[in-house]
Amino acid sequence: MQFPIFQVPYLGNGMTIALDAVLHVIISHGLAIGAITLIVISEYFGFRKSSKDWENFAKNFLKFTIIVITGVGAVTGVGIWLITSALAPNGIGSMLRIFFWPWFIEWIVFTLEVIVLLIYYFTWDKWTGERKKQHIYLGVSYIIFSLSSAFLITGILGFMLTPDGWPWNKSFLSAFFNPSFLPQLLLRASMAFALGAVFSMAFLIITRRENVFRKDALRFFGKVSFISFSAAVIFTWWYFSVVPSAFKTHMAFSVLTPRFSQQPEIFYAMNAIGTFILFLFAMFALKGSVSFSRIFIVPVLLLCMGFVTEFERVREFIRGPYLMPGYMYANQVLLGESLFLEKDSMFKNAYWYNMITDKPDVINQGAYLFAQNCSACHTIGGINDIQDGVKGRSEDGIFVILRHTHEMVPFMPPFSGTEQERRIMARFLYQLANGKITIEAPSRFAPVKEGERK
Ligand code: HEC
Repeated sequence: MQFPIFQVPYLGNGMTIALDAVLHVIISHGLAIGAITLIVISEYFGFRKSSKDWENFAKNFLKFTIIVITGVGAVTGVGIWLITSALAPNGIGSMLRIFFWPWFIEWIVFTLEVIVLLIYYFTWDKWTGERKKQHIYLGVSYIIFSLSSAFLITGILGFMLTPDGWPWNKSFLSAFFNPSFLPQLLLRASMAFALGAVFSMAFLIITRRENVFRKDALRFFGKVSFISFSAAVIFTWWYFSVVPSAFKTHMAFSVLTPRFSQQPEIFYAMNAIGTFILFLFAMFALKGSVSFSRIFIVPVLLLCMGFVTEFERVREFIRGPYLMPGYMYANQVLLGESLFLEKDSMFKNAYWYNMITDKPDVINQGAYLFAQNCSACHTIGGINDIQDGVKGRSEDGIFVILRHTHEMVPFMPPFSGTEQERRIMARFLYQLANGKITIEAPSRFAPVKEGERK
């Protein structure tokens, strides 16, 4: 079955998924796993030490986190489904066939997670005294559910970079327990606790607290952040040690963009400095220095989010020409299908194109070929504008490079279509880049009908 092609104008498809997904990762890791775990621990401290300060801190912080988790966290999570299934329906469809059960179980786990979290919140003041212990256990059960979610999703994410033997053996187990599964799961857990500790410190410092308690709590969260930062460094190293080097070579490029890609030392220097700052901050927090932490908490919080964003960006980008390595290209054309389309024709096999177009011309055909082949990563007139890539080249020049997209830039898939279609696409791109034609609605998934074009 063929799905219509959507293109998000200006932002582009990849960036649209990324904006939603990164926000979701920060909340799901940092708050839903990290912060809530630390809240349950704080509640336990309050119980064990009979400390009203720990108890109140946990309760106030929970109120804030639960609003963000159930509001923004859940909505952006569903958003990932909505956006990816609109923009990459074939990719999601294929992965659903492999990972039906993990996703199905995840749906149940996620529902339980939200229910348990709400019960945990609403029983805080009721389950006191004798029942306080049960309340803490309820919190622990939530943590187990939230970690199970991470377990289920990470198998799928890992697959998208290191599918192991799946393209050949089609084995679910080798797909799910792929080489980057375990290091990525541990890395995500350490990211969660690192973010959670920094969020906790921010809440601790910003809200009014008793001084001795604040120092105490800061020391504790400082310790958690120190351990989590160290774990994150180790697991980042482990994770990238299992990623094939063909992918890893694009790491610096993915972050630096073409502008700075010739100076990869910027990439390494920035990461080293960022890591150093995080450890320095953790040391001061460990010492209980409230004034130092107050000054640096916001930059450090942003830095942590920056690292999470960077990790997701690198992971998604270096996957390069593939959506599912060894099986499907980023533009959702199957590896095997690409060879077929080169011989047989893209148009002949394009259901939506044939449904909608009554007048095949350069604009209609070119726009379709672009949408199908390139719009997963390029826009017309927005981020990673295709016009910039072909500007200054002749029509023949473009015709030639269209055959070599996958060699020019190794993270681009090849053009799928016959030689004649490549010619049409070259003409379209040439005319577009030189202002000879304009596209009225670059977001259209399909060509414009003659009567609609102004
Ligand atoms: C997987 C994502 C992806 C897909 C799909 C993709 N590209 Fe690219 N392309 C990129 C990236 C990233 C760059 C690098 C951006 C830069 O160098 O400015 C790029 C750069 C280019 C360049 C400039 C290269 C140079 O060295 O000057 C051209 C031309 C180009 N793409 C054409 C295409 C065409 C035509 C298609 C469709 C057949 C396509 N791309 C599909 C990601 C992609």
